[in-house]
This record gives sequence, C-alpha cells and structure tokens, in this order.
Amino acid sequence: MSSRLTRLRGRRALVTGASGGIGRALALRLAAEGARVVLVARRADALEALAAEVRAAGGEALALPCDVAEREAVAAAAAHVVEVWGGVDLLVNNAGYGHHRRFLEWDLEDMERMLRVNTLGSLYWTKALLPGMVERGEGWIVFVASLAGRIAPPDESAYAASKFALVGLAESLSLEVEDLGVHVLTVCPGVIRTPFFDREALERMPAAARRQMVEPDGLVEAILGALRSGRRELTYPRMLAGAYAVRALFPRFFRWGVKRTAKRPDQTGSEGAE
Ligand SMILES: NC(=O)c1ccc[n+]([C@@H]2O[C@H](COP(=O)([O-])OP(=O)(O)OC[C@H]3O[C@@H](n4cnc5c(N)ncnc54)[C@H](OP(=O)(O)O)[C@@H]3O)[C@@H](O)[C@H]2O)c1
Repeated sequence: MSSRLTRLRGRRALVTGASGGIGRALALRLAAEGARVVLVARRADALEALAAEVRAAGGEALALPCDVAEREAVAAAAAHVVEVWGGVDLLVNNAGYGHHRRFLEWDLEDMERMLRVNTLGSLYWTKALLPGMVERGEGWIVFVASLAGRIAPPDESAYAASKFALVGLAESLSLEVEDLGVHVLTVCPGVIRTPFFDREALERMPAAARRQMVEPDGLVEAILGALRSGRRELTYPRMLAGAYAVRALFPRFFRWGVKRTAKRPDQTGSEGAE
C-alpha cells in the first residue's frame, strides 16, 4: 500500500479542532479537494456553520461536537463516525491550546488540562480509529504538534511537554504501523496567525516570534504536499528545521540563542545571566 495520499476525492477525513484556526482552514481545503469531512471541536455552532459552508460548496460534512479530553466522549464520537461512514481514511489530530506562563505561576489545573487536550486527546482519537485503518490496510494519521515539540522555549513548560509527548507518540507509532499500511505525519508549525494567540498572548509574545508569524493557508498547503509525497515530518516554515541541526552541533550556543530570542517585550531591558 502506498504511503502517498495522492487522491483525496471520496476519502473520509476527520479533523479535530475544526471550529477555528488551522483545523478549520485544513478541513475547508480537504473538502475543496473532494474529501468527505468530519468536523470535531467543542463549539457545535461553529462546526455546524462550517459544515453548512462545505455543503453549500457541494461537499459532504458531518459536525461532531466533542471534547477531545474526554475519553468516553471520543470513543462514542468515533463509534458514531464508524457507524455512519464506515470508518476514517485520514485522521488529523489538531485540537489543542497553549499558554505562556512561568512554571512557578502556572495553575496546576491548567497544566494538567493542557496535557489532556493536546496529548491524550490525540491518543484517544488514534486508539479509536487506528484499528479500522489497520483492518483495511490503509490510512493516514497527522499529528499537529509544534516547533515547541522539538525545541522548548521558556514560559511554555506544560505546552512543550504536551507537544514533545505528541512527537514521541507519533514517531514511535509511525515505525509500528507503516508496514500495516498506515502512514503517520508529524507536523511542527512555527508561529501561525490564528485565534490560538489571544490578546494576552500577543502582548507577551517575543518580538522575534511576532516577526515569524505566517498565515495558516501556507501551512495547510504544506501539509497536503507532505501527505501527497509521503513525508513523515514537516516543520513549517521549513527554514525553522535548520534549528534542529544547530542544536545538535552547537548546543551551548543554541541554548543561549533560545533564551535570548524568547525574551518577552517586558523583559527586553534586563539582560539574562548567560
Ligand atoms: N497557531 C500556532 O502558531 C501554532 C503553532 C504550533 C502548533 N499549533 C497547534 O496547532 C493546533 C491548532 O491550533 P490553532 O492555531 O488553529 O488554534 P485555534 O485557532 O485556537 O484552534 C484550536 C482548535 O482546537 C479546538 N479545541 C481546543 N480544545 C479542544 C478540546 N478540549 N476538544 C476539542 N477541540 C478543542 C478549538 O475548538 P473549540 O474551542 O470549539 O473546542 C479550535 O477548533 C493546536 O494543537 C496548536 O497547539 C499552533
């Protein structure tokens, strides 16, 4: 079975976090390519509006409100999709959120919730839909992790932990299931302009990160391109992947650089200790 997803027409694609940002843009693009889309998130009204938009353009969509952090809710929602559509060919684990917080000031409830939504949510959906893919000998799973799943900046400990875990899950799974016909793609976006960044986040965002902000459409095209060509990893914008090599070759310099560029606007006056 080919690992390349060259034809989307008629494929069943499920996108979590489809009510906004990257997930919404990706779901619309998949539908425009002829895929039948299942839209998952908590906000039912936003999902219904998106499903109506897909249908108005001649596509097929199913809105499926679900909190991905609730194991039983995911199992029930996945069972419903299997019952109605017979299964899913492409699963996009995208739902997630993030905060910038000092570890010492970060509310433990929020840290725990972040790990449940960002990491366990993807685990639950994968656990529910992978068996059907293996049975059919064909399937694609995309994990939308983050650059923070490869490089952990300060003030993002819980978020980075949730995304490092996701990258580990995806990499291990990829090796396990490729010979069973299931292809896994790990996506590590940099800074994408979406509602992910509320006003507080934008205010705290280091100037270097703000300069790197790009629109979701380019990321969506890059994900489709990576699926078409059978790639297993995508860092977007691609030039950011150069940072992995710099870290491997010059770890002390790299650490100094991360600390320096991660400085928030309110810290620019005070020089760090390194
Ligand atoms: N934007 C970036 O710069 C960036 C960079 C790297 C990685 N990422 C990752 O990309 C993914 C999408 O982010 P985005 O930028 O598109 O953010 P966004 O615009 O805030 O969208 C997040 C989506 O996730 C859904 N969601 C959040 N919690 C959920 C839950 N418990 N159950 C179900 N759905 C939930 C939200 O829908 P509801 O509120 O309706 O539930 C929304 O549809 C996230 O995993 C994020 O970590 C983003």
